[in-house]
Amino acid sequence: MNDQDKQFLKARYQEEKEQGEKFFPDIIYKDTVVAFSLFLLLLGLAAFVGVDQKPPADPSDTSYIPRPEWYFLFLFEMLKFFPGQIEVIGTVIIPGAVILLLFLLPLYDRGIKRHPLNRRLATAIISIAVLAIIGLTIRAVITTPPQAEAVGLTYVERVTAGEDLYLTHCAECHQPDGEGGLVVGVDGLEGRTLDPINSTDFLYTRTDETIYNIIDYGQPNLGMPPYGVANGGELNGQQMDAIVTFMRSWDDRVVIEMPAQMVVELAEGEIPDYEMHVYPIFRRYCIACHREGNAQQNYIMTDYQSVVTGGDHAPNVIGGDLNNNLIRSLRREDIEAGGPMPPTRPLDEKRLDIIIRWVEAGALPVREVEPGEAEEAGTP
Ligand code: HEC
Ligand code: HEC
Repeated sequence: MNDQDKQFLKARYQEEKEQGEKFFPDIIYKDTVVAFSLFLLLLGLAAFVGVDQKPPADPSDTSYIPRPEWYFLFLFEMLKFFPGQIEVIGTVIIPGAVILLLFLLPLYDRGIKRHPLNRRLATAIISIAVLAIIGLTIRAVITTPPQAEAVGLTYVERVTAGEDLYLTHCAECHQPDGEGGLVVGVDGLEGRTLDPINSTDFLYTRTDETIYNIIDYGQPNLGMPPYGVANGGELNGQQMDAIVTFMRSWDDRVVIEMPAQMVVELAEGEIPDYEMHVYPIFRRYCIACHREGNAQQNYIMTDYQSVVTGGDHAPNVIGGDLNNNLIRSLRREDIEAGGPMPPTRPLDEKRLDIIIRWVEAGALPVREVEPGEAEEAGTP
């Protein structure tokens, strides 16, 4: 800076100071107003919007992927470029150099002009830094694997999630209600008879922890596979907890209020709806053996498309035709693909009737309601 510049700045400083405000009380007052409004804003957000609560920390859950807050993601992303021994480059050297550059700013950026375009070096450095932070953050978001699906927080959510997991992973051997009995259609256990796990005898004599451990570690010598991730299974701690919570709902000491159960009653002549009436039956009695990861005869029954088009002997369902694999197997007639379904015991009349009516009406993904009939979908 030369003398002329100095004079100029000094004069301007004096000028501004004269027309300026006093620090006390003017600025203090403004600060207080702003700080208080921010406080009110936060209070309002906390009271009316709330925070997205994560499930409680669980040290036994080995599938949990810890991750930093979003505004730190770029720092952690940088570590991916400097693994192992050279980690210090990402943790200390680069961030340190950037902070040092900022620190030294008054030494290398000494012009008296303030407009960003007149401060090329400083503007360039900041732009590069901001772009790098944005780029690394985006990259971090894109490349992180999704968290294992969190199980709900309320009791009902946990029971429902537990039921889903139970029907998917356990019903195959222990049956939909834990009633046990003959195992049919499961490799390696064919013909074994399992004791019920829904009985008073069983539930009164096992604590939640005992049941959790049986699921976690399995009973390999008896034929029960381990389910905990740490033991080679595919369920995390929360999921196993949810199954235990669901199994407890069989316990007559536990009184729970569950949402209305699925409707199995149909009115005279009513056409069943796939989502409302048909899928709940598949979910309960079929998907344990017909799902991704355990698809007998490659027949997956967890989505409409696969039900209608999938399977080694596809199509198993033909709209309007009762002489197809699905209906024949449910009626326990011989089919080319295999025996009666579900293998252990027949579906009850009401459920069988729902599926038959659905196939008769065309096996559609959504039920067609005639115009004008919408009000009274029950009339023939
Ligand atoms: C592949 C078949 C199979 C699957 C799938 C299976 N189990 Fe088992 N389970 C067994 C066998 C076999 C036993 C040994 C007990 C017996 O022989 O009665 C057993 C035992 C148990 C026991 C102890 C029973 C007792 O009388 O002490 C519990 C509880 C249990 N299983 C829960 C589950 C749960 C919950 C799941 C799903 C996460 C599950 N099982 C999945 C086959 C299976
Ligand atoms: C305990 C396991 C188990 C359950 C539960 C089960 N299945 Fe199966 N399913 C099998 C097995 C095993 C086969 C293959 C039969 C064979 O190889 O002979 C099969 C085959 C089929 C096939 C032939 C698929 C093809 O394209 O080859 C149909 C259709 C079928 N099942 C329908 C059902 C329906 C509907 C339900 C529920 C009501 C059901 N299954 C429940 C084990 C099961």
